[in-house]
Amino acid sequence: MSYNTFGRVFRFTTWGESHGPAIGAVVDGCPPGLALSETEVQPFLDKRRPGQSRFTTQRQEPDQVRILSGVFDGKTTGTPISLMIENVDQRSKDYSEVANAYRPGHADYAYDAKYGFRDYRGGGRSSARETASRVAAGAVARLVIPEVRIRAWVEQIGHSPILYSRFDETEIDNNAFFSPDATAATEWERLVDAARKDGSSLGAVVVCEAYGVPAGWGAPLYAKLDSELAAAMMSINAVKGVEIGDGFAAALATGEGNADPMRPGEDGPEFLANHAGGIAGGISTGQPVRVRVAFKPTSSILTPVETIGRDGEATEIRTKGRHDPCVGIRGVPVVEAMMALVLADQKLLHRAQIG
Ligand SMILES: Cc1cc2nc3c(=O)[nH]c(=O)nc-3n(C[C@H](O)[C@H](O)[C@H](O)COP(=O)(O)O)c2cc1C
Repeated sequence: MSYNTFGRVFRFTTWGESHGPAIGAVVDGCPPGLALSETEVQPFLDKRRPGQSRFTTQRQEPDQVRILSGVFDGKTTGTPISLMIENVDQRSKDYSEVANAYRPGHADYAYDAKYGFRDYRGGGRSSARETASRVAAGAVARLVIPEVRIRAWVEQIGHSPILYSRFDETEIDNNAFFSPDATAATEWERLVDAARKDGSSLGAVVVCEAYGVPAGWGAPLYAKLDSELAAAMMSINAVKGVEIGDGFAAALATGEGNADPMRPGEDGPEFLANHAGGIAGGISTGQPVRVRVAFKPTSSILTPVETIGRDGEATEIRTKGRHDPCVGIRGVPVVEAMMALVLADQKLLHRAQIG
C-alpha cells in the first residue's frame, strides 16, 4: 500500500518530488459553492515559503499556486480540486553525497530498504517540499470551516522557551520565527545563527490552537478527534511528538488538578480550565482545541556524522546544500494546515452522521 492520501470525507492526496518539475495536491470531497481562487491559497503558501530569512533554507521558490480543476465561475464545483506548484530552484548536484551515503536521521536508508532505490535529489518524496502541497490543501479546508480561527506559534527552540507572560499574538507575524514573544525571538536569532555557523541544527516545539470549534465534532474510540489530530501532526516531516491539551503533563497531575471545572454560562457551559485541549471522549467540547508538536533538529548538517554508503561500507557524511537550520520554524504554517484539514473533515463527518 502507498499512503499519499489523508482524510475521510474531505480527502486530499499530495504528489511530486523536491526536484521534479512540480508538486501538488488533489482535494476531493470539498462541498460545492465555496468561493475559491489562487488568491485564497497564496497567502498561506507565502507564510511557508523558503528563503524569506537567514534562519530558513536559502532555496528560492516562489511557490505560486495554480488551480487546475474543480472551480468554475470562482466557486468550487464539488469535483476534485487540483492544485499545482512548480519547482523552479532545484540544484540537484548539491545532493551527490546523499546519492551514495545515508544521512542518519533522514529517510535515505529507510527508503532504499523499502523501495530498493530512491530519488535522492533534494530528498525526493521525503523532502518537506511536500508540505507546500498540504498548505495549499489546508487553504481549501479553511473555506469549509469559516467559523474556526486557527493560530500556531513556535513555543521553544532548542532549550530556549518563550515566556507566556510576554505572549502577544500580534507579535507572531512580526518576526522570522513565528514567536509570540519578541524577546525570545531576539534570543533565537543568536541561537539559530550559532547552530548554522557550527554546522549543526536545532529542534523546536510548535503550539496550535483552533478557536470556534463547536462542541460535538469528532467521534468516540477509533476515530477520536485526538487520534485524528495526532495522526495528522505526526505525518508532518520531522515531527516526533504530539500532545493534546496538557499531554504528558496530565500524567503528573491529580484528578482535581486536571479537571476542567464547568459552570452554567450565558451561552451554555463555561469551562474554568482547558487541560483537555478542547477534546473529551474523542469529541470537541467547544473549548479551544490545543495541540503541541515536537520537531526534531534538521538531519542534513555540515558536521560529519558516521554512516554507511549504499555499498554497505563505513563512511562519514557532511551534508552540503541548502537546508533549514531549524525545521520547526517553517513547520508553523504546516501545523496550521493539518489542523484545518482535520477539522474540515470532522465537520463534514459530523454533518454526515448527525445532520
Ligand atoms: C518545513 C520543513 C522543512 C524541512 N527542511 C529540511 C531540510 O532543509 N533538511 C533536512 O534534512 N530536513 C528537513 N526537514 C525534515 C525532513 O523532511 C525529514 O526529517 C525527513 O523527511 C525524514 O522524515 P522524519 O524526520 O519524519 O522521519 C524539513 C521538515 C519540515 C517540516
